[in-house]
Amino acid sequence: MPVTVVDHPLVRHKLGILRQDGVSTKSFRDLAGEVARLLTYEATKDLKTEKKTVQGWAGSVEVEQIKGKKITVVPILRAGLGMMDGVLDMIPGAKVSVVGMYRNEETLAPVQYYVKLAKEIQKRTALILDPMLATGGTLIATIDLLKEAGCKKIKGLFLVAAPEGLAKLEAAHPDVHVYVAAIDERLNEVGYILPGLGDAGDKIFGTK
Ligand code: URA
Repeated sequence: MPVTVVDHPLVRHKLGILRQDGVSTKSFRDLAGEVARLLTYEATKDLKTEKKTVQGWAGSVEVEQIKGKKITVVPILRAGLGMMDGVLDMIPGAKVSVVGMYRNEETLAPVQYYVKLAKEIQKRTALILDPMLATGGTLIATIDLLKEAGCKKIKGLFLVAAPEGLAKLEAAHPDVHVYVAAIDERLNEVGYILPGLGDAGDKIFGTK
């Protein structure tokens, strides 16, 4: 399974602030969006372009434009929303497919409560957004449903991933390309990533 750790000084710096206990809701939200933009830069490197001639200031000039533009961004509710605006800043024409999943706190199993996919999803590349790739259960369930809907090319963008979640994803969906700012040490006994960021949803929404 292809995994790209977006190892860049800006990403490492921003992640360092995200990790700090007591970081404000505003800073966490802003930084999650900024790292999402940088992940998007990497995750869109294979987009095809086509040549076009436009009128420039000194006459006609050949430029390039993205071909096709068939992308859907798939934030997993609710924490994935914290990355969505950053990604859409980079790909403003992308359609949004929303997937609502939460983890049963006892079993850690994913429970689906809302799905609204973009039209013609089978023709689109899906960029799944979730700040934390922890156990991988929610992510795998989301990929299952995207594939059932006919989606053929799927990538996942995460701020932090746990080795356990990556291994589970590799076993279930080895074709999915992962883009992540950092791979951390491990999960704790309740499925949180260590050292991680804590509860990313609570930090983005200011609910703790
Ligand atoms: N979800 C979070 O918000 N944080 C974790 O560490 C794991 C899952």
